[in-house]
Amino acid sequence: MNINQLISEKVSQAMLIVGIPDNCKAQVRPSVQTKFGDYQVNGIMAAAKQLGVSSYCLAKKVVNLLKLDKLDKIASKIEIAGPGFINIFLDSQWLAKQILIALASPSMGILKSSPKTIVIDYSSPNVAKEMHVGHLRSTIIGDSSARILEFLGHNVIRANHIGDWGTNFGMLIAYLKQEEYDDESSITLSNLDNFYREAKYNFDIDTNFANKARKYVVKLQCGDSYCLNIWRKLVDITILHNQNTYNRLNISLSKENIMGESMYNDMLPGIVEDLKAKGLAVESAGATVVFLNEFKNKNGTPMGVIIKKQDGAFLYTTTDIACIKYRYETLKADRIIYYIDSRQHQHLLQTWTIVRKAGYVPNNILLEHHMFGMILDENSKPFKTRNGVTIKLNDLLDEALVRARCLLISKNLHLDTVTLERVAQVISIGSIKYAELSKNRTTDYIFNWDQMLNFEGNTAPYILYAYSRINSIFHRSTYNKQQLTGCLYLENEPEHIHILAVHLLQYEETITIVARDGTPHILCEYLYKLSVKFSYFYEHYPILNANNDMQRNSRLQLALLTLRTLKHGLNLLGIETLEKM
Ligand code: ARG
Repeated sequence: MNINQLISEKVSQAMLIVGIPDNCKAQVRPSVQTKFGDYQVNGIMAAAKQLGVSSYCLAKKVVNLLKLDKLDKIASKIEIAGPGFINIFLDSQWLAKQILIALASPSMGILKSSPKTIVIDYSSPNVAKEMHVGHLRSTIIGDSSARILEFLGHNVIRANHIGDWGTNFGMLIAYLKQEEYDDESSITLSNLDNFYREAKYNFDIDTNFANKARKYVVKLQCGDSYCLNIWRKLVDITILHNQNTYNRLNISLSKENIMGESMYNDMLPGIVEDLKAKGLAVESAGATVVFLNEFKNKNGTPMGVIIKKQDGAFLYTTTDIACIKYRYETLKADRIIYYIDSRQHQHLLQTWTIVRKAGYVPNNILLEHHMFGMILDENSKPFKTRNGVTIKLNDLLDEALVRARCLLISKNLHLDTVTLERVAQVISIGSIKYAELSKNRTTDYIFNWDQMLNFEGNTAPYILYAYSRINSIFHRSTYNKQQLTGCLYLENEPEHIHILAVHLLQYEETITIVARDGTPHILCEYLYKLSVKFSYFYEHYPILNANNDMQRNSRLQLALLTLRTLKHGLNLLGIETLEKM
């Protein structure tokens, strides 16, 4: 049930009938205060201004039309407030009916969208390095976005665009050769991290080494079997290791989702030739460059994007051009979403400009950068270890587990050892993910253990605890969650219960926004508010000891829908729930 959409449609119809042009939007929003009803229509004032009429009179005309059908019994009262706001009070019987529909449906009464093929590019770490804190945001937010779009009925293709090609490999191969490392089978990922550091050091200080490394890149790109062998080994070690991290974090990526940079290698020469033939790319100082008028250098000249270097090597942009072409032509994408940090925005914009100009992807195929800021420490510096080293993701998860255990012990929850371990596990991962998901992704955020591992506030432990508490209502009663049926009456219930019912029915409109914008913090806020509203209800009104069977049954059904919504929502965020805590 998408109440906002339903009201918007009805109001828009009425607005058209009274002569408001259709560029004026109804602007329906949930009301901020209960005295303004459940929803308010804010668009009348702007329409009146455009028409040059009194906004109050215009609102009255719209309301008269709405009243004709009483919004199909959706509303019990419609009021005009101030200069022309329309306040809509939802009808209790209608709400009760919608709650029953949601309870009876396996998909919570949420309608599937018309299915689109959506490629989501996320996580995408570089090979031959361990995943670190910098990968948290793309991995966690991208994964939640994939789950949400999939739930809405889309054909989601998860694309883990790993950095498994390019200069890095030249460096590594040159280093292994120099160290006469011929037993690649003994290499582990932590060796690799060291090799990588050493190789990078040599690359930066030794031009001879750097030249060798560059030659290896070209050799690799040309399919040299020695280079390919070492390359394969390095990639495999990394993939295995990363999969382990994904499993720990409950990330829905698997080996099948790996579509790394190397996959597009064979397409690159053809693309460079084609861009030249189309007059988009030109030779410039030995390299092949696309000059883009849309982007200017400091001196105002068109910015050049190199797609092939003088030594014949292709670049990150060349691969991304091929990658979009593949996603459109082969995967048949209608929409491509990138979860990459904001520092790569210009790179993406340039790639897209080239791709559109070359006609590789028509304009109706959406290309979206769902960018994000950085994770900072409490001094607002990039989040690193005390001695300035990047924090490995696995180390962070280990620390979270230790901290979650301490938190649980301090809470004295009387859990046996096995349960404590299981709860600590779920809370540690849930807290890290929730801390990430609950922040607006567009800004930087400060990583704070005490804030995320806390039973108070907008945190995973708070919501997980609320969830287990609702579950215990059913455990303590003879009511079976599966068999709870019958009528639901909200007419004589207090205002807080009405508010809870409305909030429950706002789940679909919340998810729709998150699916459109890739903003899971809105879903987090929704689930947090749901937990708060339910806790208030639970603490102030008896459920199992309600006045009569009818009231008990009604309240239990609200509890049940709250329970299901919390579980469902957390699952869309990629967070596990605990039945008991
Ligand atoms: N591997 C890149 C990095 O670590 C991210 C790749 C993102 N995806 C893309 N299609 N460029 O920065």
